[in-house]
Amino acid sequence: MKLKGKRAIVTGSARGIGKAIARKMLQEGAQVHLCDVNGALLQQTAAELASIGTVDGQVVDVTQREQVEAFVHGIVQRSGPIDILVNNAGVAVFQPFLSIDDRQWQRTLDINVTGGFIFSQVAAKHMAEQQKGSIVHLASTNGLLGEAGLAHYNASKAAIILMSKTMAIELAPYQIRSNCVCPGFIRTELASEGGMSDQEIAAYLEKIPLGRWGKVDEVANAVSFLASDEASFITGTELVVDGGQICQE
Ligand SMILES: NC(=O)c1ccc[n+]([C@@H]2O[C@H](COP(=O)([O-])OP(=O)(O)OC[C@H]3O[C@@H](n4cnc5c(N)ncnc54)[C@H](O)[C@@H]3O)[C@@H](O)[C@H]2O)c1
Repeated sequence: MKLKGKRAIVTGSARGIGKAIARKMLQEGAQVHLCDVNGALLQQTAAELASIGTVDGQVVDVTQREQVEAFVHGIVQRSGPIDILVNNAGVAVFQPFLSIDDRQWQRTLDINVTGGFIFSQVAAKHMAEQQKGSIVHLASTNGLLGEAGLAHYNASKAAIILMSKTMAIELAPYQIRSNCVCPGFIRTELASEGGMSDQEIAAYLEKIPLGRWGKVDEVANAVSFLASDEASFITGTELVVDGGQICQE
C-alpha cells in the first residue's frame, strides 16, 4: 500500500479518470477527499467508494477561489494536513478554430488552467507548512502536440505543463513535487460528450500502436505512482500514458 497514511484531494472525481484515481488511492491506503460540480453523482461515487476506504465528497467549483479555500481549509482543520493534490477536473469540447467563441475559449481556460492554479496555490500553502507534498496535474498528449478542433483545450493543457514545471522549481525548497500525467485517448464520457462520433473514435484507434484506447485505471496507476514516495526524486516532469500514440508521426 504505497499511499498508506496519506491524505489526498482529487478534483473532478465524480466520474471518469478522477473517480478511478480516487479508487486507486483508496486501494493504496490513502484517505481521499473528492470534489466536483456534479453534486448528485459525487454523492453516488463517494458512497460507492466508501466500501474501499475513508472517503468524503463536497461540491466545489475549481474556478471559485472562495469555494476552494473553504474546502481545503475545512479538510485541514477537521482531518489534518494534505499530502497529495490531483488537479483532474477538466472540460473538452470539439470546435473548429474559426468558430470557437470567446465564451467557449474562456470556460476551457478557466476550468482547465485557472482551476488548477487556484487549487495548487491554496493546497501548496498548507503543504509548505508541512515541508512536504505532491501535486499531480492531468495534462494531456494534447498539451504536447496539436490536434484539430481543440485549440482551446490544447492551449489549456500546454499551459498546465509549464505551470507544473515552474511550480516544481518554486516549490522544491518546501519539498513539494509537481508533475503531470499526459493521457492519450482514454474512453470516458468526455470523448463522446465532447463531440466524437463512434466512427471518429474507431478511426482514432488506428493512430495508437497498442491498438486500443486506454483505460481509466491505467491513468490512475501513473497518477498514484507520481503522487507516492516511490517518485520522491521526480518533479517537473510529464508521464505520457498513450499506448505509444505520440511516438510516431
Ligand atoms: N478522457 C481522455 O481521453 C483524456 C485524455 C487526456 C486528458 N484527459 C484529462 O483528464 C481529466 C479527466 O477527464 P475525464 O475523461 O475523466 O473527464 P470527465 O468529463 O469524465 O470528468 C471530468 C469531471 O470534472 C468535473 N468538472 C468539470 N468542471 C468542473 C469544475 N469547474 N469544478 C469541479 N469539477 C468540474 C466534471 O463534473 C466531471 O465529473 C481532464 O482534465 C481531461 O482533460 C482526459
